[in-house]
Amino acid sequence: MCGIVGYIGSSNGVPVLIDGLEKLEYRGYDSAGIAYLEKDELRVEKALGKLVNLKGKVEGHSSQIGIGHTRWATHGQPSQINSHPHLSFDGKIAVVHNGIIENYAKIKEELESKHGIEFVSETDTEVIAHLVAINREKSDSLLEAVKASVDLMEGAYALGIIEKDNPDEIVAVRKDSPLIVGLGENEKYLASDVPAIIKYTRDVIYIDNDQFVNLTKDGVEVFDKDLNPVEMPVRKIEWDVESAEKDGFDHFTLKEIYDQPKGLRDTILTRVKEDEINIEFSLTKDQLESIDRVYIVACGTAYHAGLYGKYLIENLADIPVQVEVASEFKYTKHFINENSLFIAVSQSGETLDTLHALRKAKEEGAKVLSILNVVGSSIARESDEVFYTWAGPEIGVASTKAYTTQIASFALIALKMARLVGRVSDEEYSEYIQELRKLPDLVEKTLELSKEIKDFSKKEFENEKIFFIGRGLDYYSSLEASLKLKEISYINSFAVQAGELKHGTIALVEDGSLAVAFVTQDEVEEKMLSNIKEVKARGAKVLLITKESNKEAEKYGDYVIAVPDTLDSLVGVLSIIPAQLFAYHVSNFRGTDVDKPRNLAKSVTV
Ligand code: M6R
Repeated sequence: MCGIVGYIGSSNGVPVLIDGLEKLEYRGYDSAGIAYLEKDELRVEKALGKLVNLKGKVEGHSSQIGIGHTRWATHGQPSQINSHPHLSFDGKIAVVHNGIIENYAKIKEELESKHGIEFVSETDTEVIAHLVAINREKSDSLLEAVKASVDLMEGAYALGIIEKDNPDEIVAVRKDSPLIVGLGENEKYLASDVPAIIKYTRDVIYIDNDQFVNLTKDGVEVFDKDLNPVEMPVRKIEWDVESAEKDGFDHFTLKEIYDQPKGLRDTILTRVKEDEINIEFSLTKDQLESIDRVYIVACGTAYHAGLYGKYLIENLADIPVQVEVASEFKYTKHFINENSLFIAVSQSGETLDTLHALRKAKEEGAKVLSILNVVGSSIARESDEVFYTWAGPEIGVASTKAYTTQIASFALIALKMARLVGRVSDEEYSEYIQELRKLPDLVEKTLELSKEIKDFSKKEFENEKIFFIGRGLDYYSSLEASLKLKEISYINSFAVQAGELKHGTIALVEDGSLAVAFVTQDEVEEKMLSNIKEVKARGAKVLLITKESNKEAEKYGDYVIAVPDTLDSLVGVLSIIPAQLFAYHVSNFRGTDVDKPRNLAKSVTV
């Protein structure tokens, strides 16, 4: 996720900016840059890769005002040109940006055609620099020019802006991307996150949505969306640096579980426009109609999301789908040809087994679409088309927000395919869109169950006999829930299709076993309830994960967690959350290294 810093004061701000960016490194980045005023000159230095590359370029420079940025690529590859700050066409305005400008293509077109501006980068951010420069010519202040510019923008942004002929102010604005201001004596700081400035000050103003800020070395003024001044409280930061990096959470894994509403908003809401799915998809109706099979290939959690994807594509677009674990792909016979669509799913985009499977499918003629979280990753570079999950960097080894955004991505892709080939009715299409729009808020509501989950996790954390059951989509949730629990708690758990229990696995059930049963699918509810009776009769306790409307099922659980209702085909995005929290709390009570469990790496590149 991109990080922003800014400094204005009476000391040399260049090392402060670099230091602030270093403190934001944990968020993940692919390039970095700073802009500062030195001897009336607006200087911009950028570097691809680690911060040390940037550091070398700015050593010995001095400035009392500047902005800096670590970039996690969204629009455009990781490269020096695409990294921030971006300069306006006249070289007078420098901008750093965290977020996504959804209508940037339209603005860009206008800037090119009406103003003859030539763009140098592939980013959405560059439009902001040019817009502000154009509006500056008509405005009395930088603040007004920024307001006139953001009025034209849709999307999410936190912006820090400086101008060449104005060494006395930084202007910033926030909409749906975090932004804070730090207060020091004779110096003020801007940042997307507390760790960047905690070394210098603990007095912080949290900027709200649609607020503008004017920073000078002596003061900070905050304005509402119409530029009326607003009084904002100053908060004292009590956290240490380490917990500040985790936004006050004890672990990245927990923080990332809580990041899910935002990740889903970014993934879904940026693609749903006026009740249509607005995704760039080069496959035409004719090409889609000629696809005889879709292959979804992935590892671990991404494979579980792939299983979900199979259900969505088959049920919405009516195209047969085969899902395979990437490490097995090379050893199985396939019937891939130019009518095959191969979908690689990967958070990191670097998983070697998935990459090898992709190469094999390409050799055999398949078109390759990938669902990835890291822009410019190896898999991205070798795919014909990439659909990005905008989950933001995932640091905890256990994949959480990548999973839910992967499912949401499959829903968007499946619906788009279904629409193109005319296999979905208008009613079903708009019902899906409405429910997808609501999902981030429903995830937020589901997270409110956290205390209950923590409470029963405390009762069960020493239990070594925990298994997961479900049918249909709930079986896929069981697989993912079991993987979460085993990889961070080291409990030897498993998942089984509830109907398969009596074919062997039920022999393991005994007094004190804990069955985590997912009951969210109306179609199989009755059958699930009889499976629950089977395991209860053999002494198992049941943690039931169901949905709010399912009052009958609730009677069957020793512990019951009911998530909000949505379409049965989307409810897995909600029902996995209690399971993620359960895995997290059990592991935490057991004292394991939650963020970096033993024997595991975040990205499996061997
Ligand atoms: O980066 P990828 O999504 O390709 O990684 C795939 C798996 O290695 C990953 O999902 C792994 O299973 C996680 N540790 C699960 O939490």
